[in-house]
Amino acid sequence: MCGIVGYIGDKNAVKAVIHGLHKLEYRGYDSVGIGVIEKNKVKIYKDKGRVKTLDNIVPKNLNTSLAIGHTRWATHGKPSKLNAHPQSDCKNEIAIVHNGIIENFGELKQILKKEGHNFKSETDSEVLAHLIEKFYGETKDLAKAVKITLDKINGTYGIVVISSKEPDKMIVARSSSPIIIGVGKGENFVASDATAVIKYTKKIIYIDDGEMAIVTKDNIDIFNKDNIRIDKKIESLNWSAKEVEKNGYPTFMLKEIYEQPKSFTNTLAGHIDLENGTSHLGGMQNLFPDNEIHNIKRIVIIGCGTSWHAGLMGEYYFENMTGLPTEVEYASEFRYRNPAIDSETFVIGISQSGETADTLAALREAKGKGAKVFGIVNVVGSTISREVDEGLYIHVGPEIGVASTKAFLSQVLALFLVSLYIGRKKRLSIEDGIKFGKQLQKIPSIIDEVLQSTQAQIKKIADKYCKYTNFLYLGRGFNFPVALEGALKLKEISYVHAEGYPAGEMKHGPIALIDKDFPTFFIAPNDNFFQKSISNIQEIKARNGKLILLTDDNAKVDEGLVDDIIRIPTIDEEFYPFIETIPVQLFAYYIAIKKNRDVDKPRNLAKSVTVE
Ligand code: F6R
Repeated sequence: MCGIVGYIGDKNAVKAVIHGLHKLEYRGYDSVGIGVIEKNKVKIYKDKGRVKTLDNIVPKNLNTSLAIGHTRWATHGKPSKLNAHPQSDCKNEIAIVHNGIIENFGELKQILKKEGHNFKSETDSEVLAHLIEKFYGETKDLAKAVKITLDKINGTYGIVVISSKEPDKMIVARSSSPIIIGVGKGENFVASDATAVIKYTKKIIYIDDGEMAIVTKDNIDIFNKDNIRIDKKIESLNWSAKEVEKNGYPTFMLKEIYEQPKSFTNTLAGHIDLENGTSHLGGMQNLFPDNEIHNIKRIVIIGCGTSWHAGLMGEYYFENMTGLPTEVEYASEFRYRNPAIDSETFVIGISQSGETADTLAALREAKGKGAKVFGIVNVVGSTISREVDEGLYIHVGPEIGVASTKAFLSQVLALFLVSLYIGRKKRLSIEDGIKFGKQLQKIPSIIDEVLQSTQAQIKKIADKYCKYTNFLYLGRGFNFPVALEGALKLKEISYVHAEGYPAGEMKHGPIALIDKDFPTFFIAPNDNFFQKSISNIQEIKARNGKLILLTDDNAKVDEGLVDDIIRIPTIDEEFYPFIETIPVQLFAYYIAIKKNRDVDKPRNLAKSVTVE
């Protein structure tokens, strides 16, 4: 939440920072601002609105060697010009951009006000600027003033600080909000994540919690929480700048939906061992050498939102293949309970961004209780990927659309691979393992086929249904998490109310909602539960409910029973989620487009939820 960027060097700093803000806009987009030092003065240009607002407020000829920028997702104080960042001190000599929450800002603000500081905004972040001003007065050293300030606050932060008194540097620090430094020649960058800087450099330093850095044009000094200078590894990013562009698609979301045959292939690459009917997973091998896998008594999967839905699918896979009791937990609930976790629990955390605050905290909690913690993460070098014991990157490339699509499919695949790995060591036969491996290899071309065969039809169906304001999504077994995911996609990008339910639960409440104005999107291929699903469909039709059925080519359906039917290829039931997800994503997408929604940046949302 909130994107922050900084640049110092020989290029036009304003241009580099605005470019970075565009790339980070998915983190928040209700207000925007940049701060520069020009002629030894801090100048700030900011307003409510998206990054493009800067085109109207930043002077065209503004060209400085140092700039910081911020794109906001409001926490304290509504979106407004005054609440936008950068925030500054009384004398306008210090400017800061902040991502996170300062929990004790209220009491600090009172003290600072009594001391004569003049506050301009309702934000928690502004206290940082005034505290730094206060301690700069005492130390005459920007880095020291920032360090003392950070020692006084409780909360989370990624910050970049500049001052007209020391115009040759940025001070950078983090605690629970991500910060990277992009290393250049005669220039350096700071950002919430690497997408902001990849156009300029692929050399990245990941800043860890408690660390602070002094970044000049030619130098980067990093200090640990005890203020001791440390050396950190410069990592090389393997994403290309092209991956963060739309490449001819109208939206990132559509591009990412269409990337799924490739992203699925990338996740699978190198992990199938057909000879032994299992998966190659270096992380699992390291975590459970020899026969230690037999110590696992229970599996707990943790995530939020779409990642939690992927986790639910994992529950089916783990129970089927390994026989181990498996639970799926919302990170935000798990972390505040006293969860029963011990060294015999295998904990899997799922996160596309690798930065979700609740997931991170839940995994830390599990680790603290002695569990072995495994991460399924997309963003390389993200906090979760660095904190887990071992993990598996899904390697789907940058996911920019706020609604998760390609990451979901690959998270489910990653869970399947982990489950296959444990399953083969427990009760799954080599024949079944080989069969699964072979089938997984065929999935990318089937996804491609589904994209081609259903897109035009789904667009038409979306046109027909876009006037409805409520939807019910139903599915049984493997299809239930897909129903939940379909409902979430529709809600978040079209703002249409939708509920996902296990189809068998319909009669325990939701059926009361069904009438001619409350359509159902039913996901029911011809699997073990098909006849039960058909009975549910009868119940819906008996109450005049409109019905869209997503089923497979071989399913025998009395087409008079449904209003619209979308067919996908017939495959083994474990694999349906990989292909059912496509029509479900496209349906939400086209409803949202029909409603003129900004699908890549839906209101109130942000891609990386780094607040708790
Ligand atoms: C929904 C969506 C969110 C995320 C959730 C977790 O489309 O994108 O529900 O899935 O915020 O994010 P990660 O996976 O980054 O931890």
